[in-house]
Amino acid sequence: MAKRSVRDAPAAGKRVLVRVDHNVPLTEDGRVADDMRIVESLETLEFLRKEGARIILLSHLGRPQGAPDPRFSLRPVARRLSELLGHPVAMAPGVVGPEVERAARELRDGGLLYLENLRFHPGEEKNDPAFAAELASLGELFVEEAFGTVHRAHASTVGVPQRLPSYAGFLVSREVTELSRLLDAPARPFMVLLGGAKVVDKLPLLTQLSSRADGILLGGALAFPFLREAGADLGDQPVEGSLGPSCREFFARTRSRQVSVTLPVDFLAEETASGEVHQVPSRKVPAGHRIFDIGPRTRELFIATLQKSGTVFWNGPLGRVEDPRFRGGTQEVLRALAGIPGVHVSAGGDSGRALRELGAEGSFHYVSTGGGAALEFLEGRDLPGLRVLPEA
Ligand code: 3PG
Repeated sequence: MAKRSVRDAPAAGKRVLVRVDHNVPLTEDGRVADDMRIVESLETLEFLRKEGARIILLSHLGRPQGAPDPRFSLRPVARRLSELLGHPVAMAPGVVGPEVERAARELRDGGLLYLENLRFHPGEEKNDPAFAAELASLGELFVEEAFGTVHRAHASTVGVPQRLPSYAGFLVSREVTELSRLLDAPARPFMVLLGGAKVVDKLPLLTQLSSRADGILLGGALAFPFLREAGADLGDQPVEGSLGPSCREFFARTRSRQVSVTLPVDFLAEETASGEVHQVPSRKVPAGHRIFDIGPRTRELFIATLQKSGTVFWNGPLGRVEDPRFRGGTQEVLRALAGIPGVHVSAGGDSGRALRELGAEGSFHYVSTGGGAALEFLEGRDLPGLRVLPEA
């Protein structure tokens, strides 16, 4: 599954289009709030600079609707990248067009030019052939470094690599290696700790991992339909509907494969009338309560269950971490991983940022930069931005 690497690209003196995923959060005053994705792309960019490539950076930021929108300009990102590289990064006056073309042609060896947000152009998300050809004509080689976007069949992720000799950047290669290891050869027992809210979105991941893992622990709203299926009375807690058949299938599969399933035994729940927080048993949540975190007994149970693991994969908070009253479950379990031997990997959403905010980044050996892309990879899907790259 290894892809042809940027290490083998004849990049000296060439204009190299590098698709990065610098889709990073910005502050209200337009600065980069979390530069993890920029930092992770530096190895490839520094390598190409040393090789004497003329680097043209392509990225999207947010979801502008196919037209320029100053709130989504990549200017602050280019500025941050320039600080990190200690080298100027010129900002192009747009995505494509004669002025952009001129700027690209004027690049010197080792120089960098950042195009404006690709999604300012309506052709990007449609993988419009004319737009892809225009983008491709700016460069001579293409490097895919945007792991977080390889699940999108857009002009910059599919149309351009179809038109130019293409290579995988170091980040893409690293992500594929690390995530493949989870699917192919995890150190056992392989335990999966999943939380988060959107149950329906997580079902394909659960299905895939339940045929590879030795144990699955569920927290957050993800646990609710499974608890209900197992006979718990969750009181007035809203539970995502019509998931009974999927839950039954999950229990049947895990039982037949002897995969252990650990569900919360207690919760921290807020009594709606008083605003008081109570510890409640998961099998019988009193009326008038809303569940916002796993309870202290569940924390202990989860930590004890993970103690025996060789590999842990984590995705999704176990409670409402944005509220300090309900952060404890996720924080304590993730921090405890630091003291548990074995390989710990996390992916999806803003997991890197969440880990830093929870002070638990030291618990993980690998944190993927991919949100949806990493989860789709782990679901075993064929991702268009990877499929298009030649094998090594
Ligand atoms: C992400 O943050 O997951 C990627 O940058 C992809 O962004 P998108 O979901 O807007 O395509």
